[in-house]
Order: sequence, then C-alpha cells, then structure tokens
Amino acid sequence: RSDLKATLLEINKIAAQYYYVQLKSERGAVAYDYLTDRGLSEETIKSFGLGFATKYSNDLYNYLKRKGYSEELIRQAGLINIDEKNGVYDKFWNRVMFPIMDANSRVIGFGGRVMGDAKPKYLNSPETAVFDKSRNLYGLNRARTSRKSYFLVCEGYMDVISLHQAGFTNAVASLGTALTSGHASLIKRYVSEVYLTYDSDDAGTRAALRAVPIMREAGIAAKVIRMDPYKDPDEFIKNLGAEEFEKRIENARNGFMFSLEILSKNYDMESPEEKTAFFQETAKRLIEFEDELERNNYIEAVAKAYRVNPDSLQKLVTKTAIKEG
Ligand code: CTP
Ligand code: MN
Ligand code: MN
Ligand code: MN
Ligand code: MN
Repeated sequence: RSDLKATLLEINKIAAQYYYVQLKSERGAVAYDYLTDRGLSEETIKSFGLGFATKYSNDLYNYLKRKGYSEELIRQAGLINIDEKNGVYDKFWNRVMFPIMDANSRVIGFGGRVMGDAKPKYLNSPETAVFDKSRNLYGLNRARTSRKSYFLVCEGYMDVISLHQAGFTNAVASLGTALTSGHASLIKRYVSEVYLTYDSDDAGTRAALRAVPIMREAGIAAKVIRMDPYKDPDEFIKNLGAEEFEKRIENARNGFMFSLEILSKNYDMESPEEKTAFFQETAKRLIEFEDELERNNYIEAVAKAYRVNPDSLQKLVTKTAIKEG
C-alpha cells in the first residue's frame, strides 16, 4: 500500500476519534441524545464508533492542521471542501457521524446524518484513494465474524446498527449506492446466501428487484424479507422486536419468486390473455437458469404458485429458449 493511502487511513482514524470525543463532550450532548432517543445503547455507540461533527466552523480541519496534516492531504481524505467563495471548510457540519470501515476495520470514509429533517439527510465522504463505495459494505468488518451462513443486506447505516444491537450481527448495507456486482463478489468471499432486507417503499422494492439477479450472477442465493407495516429494519425492530424479525427471516421469500410476485401485479390474472402474457414474460426469466435441475424446480414452483399446468409451462419455456436463442 502506498504512503498516500496509509496517510489517508491515518487521517480518517484521527477524524473518527475526534468525532467520537466530540460526541461524548458537552457540546455533543444534542447528538448523543439524538442517538439514544433512537434507541442506541452506549455500548452500541461505542462499538460502531459513532461521533459528532460540531457546528463550529472548521473544527476538524483546524484539529488536523494542528496534528501536522496539510490542507492537501485533508482534502484528499475527503474531509474538507474548498471553493472560491467560502475558502476551506469542513465537509461535515452539525451531523451525527458514522465511520465507514473496510473489512479490516480501517476507517475509509464517513456518513453524516442531520439530527432533524433538513436536507440532505445523509452526506457521505466522496470516493478517495481509500474509499471505493462499490467495493465496501457498512458493517462488513463485524458481519464477517458472525457465525451465520448468510448476510442480511439492508439499505442504511441505522438499519445495520439496530440489527447488530438486536443480535443480528450478520447485517451489512451498501453505502448510499445501489448494490453492484462489486458488492456481490465481496459478499461471496464470506457467504453464499443473502437475505435482502430493504425498505418497504417503492425504492426499496426496486432495489431488491435489481439486487436479485446481481446476486445470482455472483453465485449467491437471494431471499427477500419485507418490513411492512414498518418502513425499514430499524423501525421494524424498534416496534416489533428481534423475535418478530426472526420470524420474517424464517418466512423469507425466494428472490426469484418475489420478483414474479411483483411482476404479476402488472397483469390481470383473471384475463386469459393477460395471464398468458404473464407466463410468456415468466418463461423469458426462467430460461436464465442455466442449470436444468434448478430451472425445472422453478418451473414446478411457478406452476404451483400461479396455478398452471407444469407441462404447459415447461413447453413454453423450451419454446422461449429456442426463440430467444
Ligand atoms: N442515503 C444517502 N443520502 C441521502 C439519503 C440516504 O446516502 N440523502 C443513504 C444512506 O446510506 C442511508 C441509506 O441511503 O443510510 C438509506 O436511506 P433512507 O432509507 O432514506 O434512510 P435511513 O437509513 O432509513 O435513515 P434514518 O433512519 O436515519 O432516517
Ligand atoms: Mn430508503
Ligand atoms: Mn427515517
Ligand atoms: Mn430507511
Ligand atoms: Mn430508517
């Protein structure tokens, strides 16, 4: 690793420690209260190294300068912005800070949340020489040592933290970006199965639908857990507790079957014409399973779930495979 990368990691680590000290200080009381009001214990706050960027301008910048780091290095760490109008200023300001760590628990960047409804809700470090958003996952440094054979993949920092606090130490999240094949190959180093635990809104559903084939291409089996009637895992756990969440895990839907369920909402299944169109689209998706046994198992499952003759579906799939080449 180059000297630059080592220095940026060092700066990030010092920044994380600084933010943590601020959180525990008197002027961090507002942020500390915000986190405990959201149900986080002192132990959780400490183990995730949460912190606070104060509203005093250039608090962190001045601290890092005093430690001997140049403006240029602090900029390369993504911790300050520089523009003609305002000069140099701290990127994170009056926010609760979530240090983002790589698999080896080195701080590679930050997420910062406003303590209210201001926009943007989250601000994240830019990509830097040490921070590649598509090759890192929040919580992975902890999830990798959980003894589960699968990961819970969710959307947000708070989801990961709440899940870990509730005992689900195999939770990870992508970093304010959609899940990529880079994330999938990273996951594949540790587990071959994931439970997608995205938000209940349309964006969360779409994110789950996109993630299923990305996982499959990486050789990872994906199941889908829904958080309704709550917004996300954090709120689900807070309202219904770990035992109910455990039940959702047990009742997780197969990713492919979940995709079909969403697809089927576009068709009036009472109409023979539309039902046929649904099966034609389904057949196109079924031919993506290259393994014959696996494909047949899905054909059987689909036939059962959508009440159609399995042999007819099998024939349609064969015909579609020839047609689609
Ligand atoms: N996110 C982001 N920038 C935003 C909004 C969201 O980077 N302006 C990312 C963050 O990583 C966030 C995740 O997307 O954790 C999920 O967003 P959202 O569901 O809106 O937020 P929550 O995680 O539910 O945040 P909270 O519970 O604190 O409201
Ligand atoms: Mn969301
Ligand atoms: Mn919220
Ligand atoms: Mn959410
Ligand atoms: Mn939330």
